[in-house]
Amino acid sequence: MSILGKSINRPDAPGKTTGKTRFLTDIAVDNMAHGAPVYSSIPFGEYTSIDLSKAKKVDGYIDFVSAKDIPAENQIGVIVPDQPLFADKTVRFIGDSIGLVVAETHEAAIEAAKAVSISYAEKTPYYTIDESRDAEDNFIHESNLACHHKVRKGDIQKGFVESDQIIEARFKTPYQEHYYLEPQACIASPNGSDKMKILGSLQCPFYIQKAIARVFDWPYENILVEQAPTGGAFGGKEDIPSEVCARAAVAAMKINRPVKVVYTRHDDAQLTSKRHPFQMNYKVGVKNDGTLVSAEILLEENAGAYATLSTVVSYRSCAQAMGPYVIPNIHVDSNSYLTNLPTTGAFRGFGSPQAAFGHERMMDVIADELGIEPMALRLKNVIRPGDQTQTAQVLNESVGAEETIQEAAKLAKWDIFNPTKDSRYKYGLGMSSIHYGNCLGAAGWHMDGSGVNIKLFPDGNVHVAYGLVEMGQGSETAVRQMTAEAMGISMDRITVLPTNSAQVPDSGPAVASRNVVMTGNAIRNATKKILPVLKNSAAKWMSCSIDDISISNDIINDRSSGTEIQFHELCDYMGKTQTDMEFTGWWHTPELDYDATTGIGEAYFSYSFATQIAKVKVDTLTGLVDVENIYAAYDVGKAINPSGIEGQVEGGSAQGIGWATTEDFKIKDGKVQTPNLTTYLLPTALDSADVETTIVEKPEPEGPWGAKGIGEPSIIPTAGAVANAVSNAIGIQMNEIPLTPERVLNALNGK
Ligand code: MOS
Repeated sequence: MSILGKSINRPDAPGKTTGKTRFLTDIAVDNMAHGAPVYSSIPFGEYTSIDLSKAKKVDGYIDFVSAKDIPAENQIGVIVPDQPLFADKTVRFIGDSIGLVVAETHEAAIEAAKAVSISYAEKTPYYTIDESRDAEDNFIHESNLACHHKVRKGDIQKGFVESDQIIEARFKTPYQEHYYLEPQACIASPNGSDKMKILGSLQCPFYIQKAIARVFDWPYENILVEQAPTGGAFGGKEDIPSEVCARAAVAAMKINRPVKVVYTRHDDAQLTSKRHPFQMNYKVGVKNDGTLVSAEILLEENAGAYATLSTVVSYRSCAQAMGPYVIPNIHVDSNSYLTNLPTTGAFRGFGSPQAAFGHERMMDVIADELGIEPMALRLKNVIRPGDQTQTAQVLNESVGAEETIQEAAKLAKWDIFNPTKDSRYKYGLGMSSIHYGNCLGAAGWHMDGSGVNIKLFPDGNVHVAYGLVEMGQGSETAVRQMTAEAMGISMDRITVLPTNSAQVPDSGPAVASRNVVMTGNAIRNATKKILPVLKNSAAKWMSCSIDDISISNDIINDRSSGTEIQFHELCDYMGKTQTDMEFTGWWHTPELDYDATTGIGEAYFSYSFATQIAKVKVDTLTGLVDVENIYAAYDVGKAINPSGIEGQVEGGSAQGIGWATTEDFKIKDGKVQTPNLTTYLLPTALDSADVETTIVEKPEPEGPWGAKGIGEPSIIPTAGAVANAVSNAIGIQMNEIPLTPERVLNALNGK
């Protein structure tokens, strides 16, 4: 391999670091109007009247669109059809969409939206998981349960009887706001009476295509979706852009002009999805030597007002609830409850960071109870090749869990950790080990295929269109690298095109750490078609046998004569000889044998493994937690771009440290109290840790060149590691995050 495994600079970096990249706020199209959302100011009830008189007086006001302007189906629910695009009387959270004001400028639209006066008949809202679960009537939808998943393996009661000790603990994890630096934004441009072009800051172009097709009852092909450079997403631009774009599209059709919508930061925080808060109960039976025997786990999630992607979060957290450990008997229930709060959905890991906090805190609680060293407890139970996951899936290959524990421990000098003794500052180390099911898994197999379109030009340039997206994670770089490697040509020739729904088949969502695996395999499949064509043309030109041709580093070589030609010369010849120079590639994940009624079987086709160790310093006077170091080891199968992986782990760790310490998302009476960076404290470079990463390569047979996903695994272990380190430092089990100074001081003061 000449290109893979080398650290490569990102083609998108110069534009993004110098400010030259034009994001949606910088983009205007001719004759464009601006939209601003009008949304419920009550958490639950019905609106009884809408008064536009004041809004109409705002200079530049054009129109107001609402449910009655929707041509076909008023529905935006991505999995469960429970969410109107514009509320039809019933509103279920502060932020539930009622309409969109369009005006000549962004400012006028916002002013007019504020001037819309709405009357309501209120109902009693539900805010907490407990209130929602225990409700007997006045449900938010048909019931208050958004979804439920389970795992039933072995006989847990027998397992508890066979255990020496049964240990129980409860854990809580909070909201997390994505806080992508660029808020939700799009431009919807109508084209005639039945076509629409969308330019958007987005993760899932094909979701948007389907959403708009549904709202207008148009064929999919009438909607062209193009991704603009996207300033962060983290799952927050998975399903939400479908509603932002579909509302803009309804307005654009009504006024027959392009409509741009850019959410203000305040509206973005109130209207869009977050990470699900979890409350978790772990009851685990163990032998005195630390062997895990039996577990009964209950995960409960606050889903907000609509089901959105709760089922994905619930499924994944359920399947991964006990982490990368072997356990013969286990029951897991994962329930998402509807409340009258902003929706929760996709956020880097789909419930994995929450479940990982549960199982990794639990491992340290068990270690403490049994008096076993925490790393030794993990090594005693960690999954190794040939072992079963908690869903009874036997993993034979690409199982690097144990190596990640060993490698992270080496980096952290775990064995010789000898904290400075200080009466005010307490130091601690905490370990956290995880597995992450790659791609969509058994529940999402029907959407788990992706494509590429590779086009060669007679001048030797190569364009790659793919169906997933660059959202800051470095996918463009990886796609370029993998194409160059597969074709045997230099990266300089390759341009990765902005994602556009017309250039590739529906490739599913750009989520679940799918890009390298899906697009990489699609590239390899395209190359199986490209290479024979290249070789055939070269053999014709050089009058040799096709078997004598080899291609590498941009050079086409005829072994029989020793003749060499350049790749661009071959492309020129192909052009002149009327050769088809456009190729497609497709790949879907292997079919999975999984039983949803028991949660037993192949939940995912492959797993990434990782271990992080956090080193913290706790100020016992102020309660401040300083995460000084993160020592990380990642089994990614094969590193495509090592510096890209290090970047992901640094970013994921920073985001995980924020979730574990500084980010304290607050909602009061249904209203977000932390809608800006003054009130919601994202970690800065100073709050983040010094992150060191070791890469472990246990090749995945189904992965391209053996590769597995890294995007989400980068954040999943962090909060558990930080909480374990703080617990270790102060000698108190910290079972709830964020570890704000208040929470730490309360613990130290025995509250
Ligand atoms: Mo991400 S949670 O895979 O959109």
